[in-house]
Amino acid sequence: MENQLSMLLHLLGFGLLMTTLVAGVLLEIQYRKAKDLQAKAIILRPLRSIGLLSPIASLLLLVTGIGNMVVRQYTLFAPGWLTAKIIFYAFAVISGVIFGVKSRKRGALVKSMVEGSAPPNAEELLDTQTKQLTLFYVVMPIVLLIILALSVWKP
Ligand code: HEM
Repeated sequence: MENQLSMLLHLLGFGLLMTTLVAGVLLEIQYRKAKDLQAKAIILRPLRSIGLLSPIASLLLLVTGIGNMVVRQYTLFAPGWLTAKIIFYAFAVISGVIFGVKSRKRGALVKSMVEGSAPPNAEELLDTQTKQLTLFYVVMPIVLLIILALSVWKP
């Protein structure tokens, strides 16, 4: 029973994480398409609440992943695919935290531009920040697919 419950919650965590990523990508596309700053600021608002779901999903994955390990008597070093998975997971969490900080900074910058209190090089800054955030949206789906493949094939 614990086995199935832990796996059920693990898969729910996975679904939640994927939802936040897909929603993030869709909102980012809309952000880029938006013509004026006011529209951009409005699009960034839901992105903040969606972003808050990803730490919850990550924590759920970690706790239930440990539950899965205990049930199967796995350790950190065996099987090898699990060790690799945990390393990719740690990379994903660290990237997510960095992305979250950068994303919040961009939100604050757009808000200050709308309010007219932005620094003089705001346009340039916004461009750099948006490029950095694009990298996340390319790297993260790849990392999550690797984690998923490791979980399914267990090489
Ligand atoms: C983004 C992060 C993660 C994703 C997408 C993910 C995904 C999955 C999926 C889809 C399965 C089902 C595989 C199957 O039944 O064949 C699974 C199983 C499992 N996961 Fe994760 N997981 C993640 C993080 C973690 C973490 C952090 C741990 C450990 C701390 C972990 C430990 C496990 C274990 C032990 C199993 C059971 C494997 C088996 O049946 O032998 N997972 N995971």
